[in-house]
Amino acid sequence: MTQSDKNRVVIFDTTLRDGEQSPGATMTHEEKLEIAGLLDEMGVDIIEAGFPIASEGDFNAVSEIAKNAKDAVICGLARANFKDIDRCWEAVRHATRPRIHTFIGTSPLHRAIPNLTQDEMAERIHETVTHARNLCDNVQWSPMDATRTEWEYLCRVVEIAIKAGASTINIPDTVGYTAPRESADLIRRLIETVPGADEVVFATHCHNDLGMATANALAAVDGGARQIECTINGLGERAGNTALEEVVMAMKVRGDIMPYTTGIDTTKIMHLSRRVSTVSGFQVQPNKAIVGKNAFAHESGIHQDGMLKNAETFEIMRPEDVGLSETNIVMGKHSGRAALRSKLKDLGYELADNQLNDVFVRFKELADRKKEVYDDDLIALVTAGDDSE
Ligand code: KIV
Ligand code: ZN
Repeated sequence: MTQSDKNRVVIFDTTLRDGEQSPGATMTHEEKLEIAGLLDEMGVDIIEAGFPIASEGDFNAVSEIAKNAKDAVICGLARANFKDIDRCWEAVRHATRPRIHTFIGTSPLHRAIPNLTQDEMAERIHETVTHARNLCDNVQWSPMDATRTEWEYLCRVVEIAIKAGASTINIPDTVGYTAPRESADLIRRLIETVPGADEVVFATHCHNDLGMATANALAAVDGGARQIECTINGLGERAGNTALEEVVMAMKVRGDIMPYTTGIDTTKIMHLSRRVSTVSGFQVQPNKAIVGKNAFAHESGIHQDGMLKNAETFEIMRPEDVGLSETNIVMGKHSGRAALRSKLKDLGYELADNQLNDVFVRFKELADRKKEVYDDDLIALVTAGDDSE
């Protein structure tokens, strides 16, 4: 294996499964097909298209996505029982590259729900992973709530799943409970401890309850995980999942300290973010990293002046890299004369110094009253000045 193969991180997108599970984020059949097509085009390696047993609609969407997939592996989710797994297989088998993802909650709190002893659950894992593997040669297994599962038991069940034929072991931080150092250590220790661990891919699946999903996922990669499970805009249950755009751009921008690669065409990020926001009805907060409306916007005079001289002063990535045409210089009460001059020039007005001073005074008066001064307001200021002369 070359160094670059070793450092290639598989991007597993679960916008259509875990993302769609957020209350109120339901998407129509056509919308799911459209998002799956865009994810495939963007270079996502694996699309978790849904939970086929959950409803007829989910089953149909997963089947259709599987039929239409071009390059991506199409994955469906199944609980640890034969009925779920069979239904999942029926849906994903149409894909050129299908995957069954089966899971069970392994922490004491989750074991108590089906009221299984450790031994009974271990047996269930062996049977269900074996069953999935008899249907499909690509099986992923997850011990849900892994980060709150006893260490010895976690090692035991991971070993059982590997022996039963799972080729990807996902370690979910289901309730966003872990922290970066622990996240890295957990993966590293599992790889060092569990027999057969070096034969499989370890995945990280983080939730954002404490705002650490991105950091925890990247730390897990430092610990040896080579698959990140994530969603567009961080859509997902409660506070959401790891945001795809954040982990991908973090590895791209900070390749010096995170020397990992992905197959993602990052210039498609902004379009996907907007489509997911529209179809899910979940607006992106303005200050959201990478895809928020303000992520590449500058209002303060000092920042605008710096940006006009050298964009690297206040931007660590280029807007084009995520699919935006340009930085947004927002004209408001913090803007300075240099930004006003540049903005007016873009609008076709090159003013002499005294004219600019006059417009600048009136612009500041207006900006005190309005949050944002739009292009039309600026044109009105300039042309009103012309009339009075
Ligand atoms: O958060 C979680 O544990 C999950 C599993 C089903 C992988 O989404
Ligand atoms: Zn999840």
